[in-house]
Amino acid sequence: MTTLTNIPLSVEWKDTHIRLLDQQKLPQETIFLELRTIQDVFDAIVTLKVRGAPAIGIAAAYGLALSAQGYETSNISEFRVLLKNDSDYLASSRPTAVNLFWALERLLSASERACSVNEAKTILVHEAINIQMEDEATCRDIGEHALGLFQKGNKVLTICNAGSIATARYGTALSPFYLAKERNFPLSVYACETRPVLQGARLTAWELQQAGVDVTLITDSMAAHTIQSKGIDAIIVGADRITANGDTANKIGTFGLAILARAFQIPFYVAAPLSTFDLSKDTGSEITIEERDPEEVTSIGGRKVAPEGISVFNPAFDVTPNDFITAIITEKGVIKGDYLSKIKELFI
Ligand code: MRU
Repeated sequence: MTTLTNIPLSVEWKDTHIRLLDQQKLPQETIFLELRTIQDVFDAIVTLKVRGAPAIGIAAAYGLALSAQGYETSNISEFRVLLKNDSDYLASSRPTAVNLFWALERLLSASERACSVNEAKTILVHEAINIQMEDEATCRDIGEHALGLFQKGNKVLTICNAGSIATARYGTALSPFYLAKERNFPLSVYACETRPVLQGARLTAWELQQAGVDVTLITDSMAAHTIQSKGIDAIIVGADRITANGDTANKIGTFGLAILARAFQIPFYVAAPLSTFDLSKDTGSEITIEERDPEEVTSIGGRKVAPEGISVFNPAFDVTPNDFITAIITEKGVIKGDYLSKIKELFI
């Protein structure tokens, strides 16, 4: 019996359009958008209507497939030029989550198999659907491996939203909590609100509550006190990009939690699919960290909370160095220790 029946899919292919859960409107309203153009998809990614590394990749894949359906040429070379331009356009939406680039690349190379434009159009749609289907299975596998790291009654802290709506289904860091719920295995989750745009308060708190998972919301500044006073047993987070040595980019605030985990001597886990690894980068210092609109910091929920004209620094992600990470959980299992060689082995 799945616990996910009350949580809608973030992205769905509907042949003529993409049905997208508007994550900016949650939890007050559950609204679905109909994306009909590549610009709609680009804007949805930039404005965080769809967010979370795997979900961004799925949306972009469908966006590229959708756009390609409208190309009027029957010349395959012209088709490939149009496709590459559209792929580059979608790739410019957000810089940090590698799943975006991974998914677009996967569509481009799948389309290489086609001998005709019609065949290429069909291949693109199938490949995008495959990416979404595979991600659901992958997330479930990540959940199985992650659940094996927890004891009954554990209290686990998380940040941002690495849940069902950030992926095809189940999520990465939140997947073990859904599997635990299905099996009556008691776990409690503490969710950091995740300023500036509150993915923890708006999305993680909402989706875990919808599924009946025991979840308690805290502000980000309460993390140290909560670990100390509530006896948090572990921290688990998702990832936007993991480099060859295991350095991990994830939502801003993640690195601070890793430092707290070390101070309190509790495990710090990263849960992510292989599509989030970027072996072209040796270390986290090579990852581009997105900086977003200062308005996200000077306002909360559209209400100004800072003086006019204040300078703002608004990085959306930080990088946790590999030696702060107790284990990385992928669909292939749990790796610890020498990340450089263990990550290499994941891709053999
Ligand atoms: O800015 P966001 O909301 O896209 O950031 C999302 C995260 O940092 C998630 O933890 C990460 O993408 C993993 S989602 C399974």
